Amino acid sequence: MTTTHQDIPPALARALREARRIVVFTGAGVSAESGIATFRDALTGLWSRFDAQALATPEAFRAHPDVVWGWYEWRRAQSLRARPNPAHLAIAELARRGAEVTVVTQNVDDLHERAGSAGVLHLHGSLHAPRCSACGQPWRPEADPPEDPGEGRRIMPPACGACGAPVRPGVVWFGESLPARAWQEARGAAERCDLLLSVGTSALVYPAAELPLLALSKGAVVAQVNPAATPLDARAHHNLHGPAATLLPALLRASGLRHSG
Ligand code: OAD
Repeated sequence: MTTTHQDIPPALARALREARRIVVFTGAGVSAESGIATFRDALTGLWSRFDAQALATPEAFRAHPDVVWGWYEWRRAQSLRARPNPAHLAIAELARRGAEVTVVTQNVDDLHERAGSAGVLHLHGSLHAPRCSACGQPWRPEADPPEDPGEGRRIMPPACGACGAPVRPGVVWFGESLPARAWQEARGAAERCDLLLSVGTSALVYPAAELPLLALSKGAVVAQVNPAATPLDARAHHNLHGPAATLLPALLRASGLRHSG
């Protein structure tokens, strides 16, 4: 299927052109076309192949730090090898067109930043910001991409330089709170925006999934970009069913914000 700017609802193109404040709320689907697996897609999603409770909880890290650290090192290597795709680039381009754009992501990769987005709010932390599990001191990972450690390899976490406790991945695990400042800023941006674009997220994981609903409650236009239906379909003003790397550039062109490419 070829998506052209004619497929974009004119009312959405106009809303994007006229919006003064935009929130772009992203999930794993925005990085899918960079080769990073999503979580819940039936055959390819990480949670169809791996047990979240055994890998993404504080209890799992305490019980098997080498299993958990090895799995996150595998994902960090993938993230370092991946390149931003046209969806990340289109989101970064939006901010250069004059509106105030707040990018709020559930993703733990850094592809928005590498595409040129600034001030990205990471609600679920980052693969690239490990810290001590006891004293919280940041731990600086290798700058160069590590050799791919393989998806099932056990690797003992390094010891914190300050207190000697194991270093942990800088991500939010199930049962943990979101980083308070990022969450507060994201809520504020969702309450104030004219337009919220929800891109590549199943809109199932709370509290992050509250953001589009918060924007709707304050009168913003909400549009979703996703090849599959989500619970947000029934509430959003516009549902663009297709891949983000095609639809976001088409949306910019339809809005007159991009003239070529
Ligand atoms: P999910 O895996 O739940 O959802 C990814 C969404 O992306 C699905 O709805 C897909 O249909 C959609 N998708 C797939 N390919 C796409 C493409 N090319 N363009 C656009 N959309 C596409 O991922 P998230 O919603 O990000 O949390 O999941 C939320 C949280 O659940 C994650 O941050 C993670 C996970 O457990 C933690 O680890 C705490």
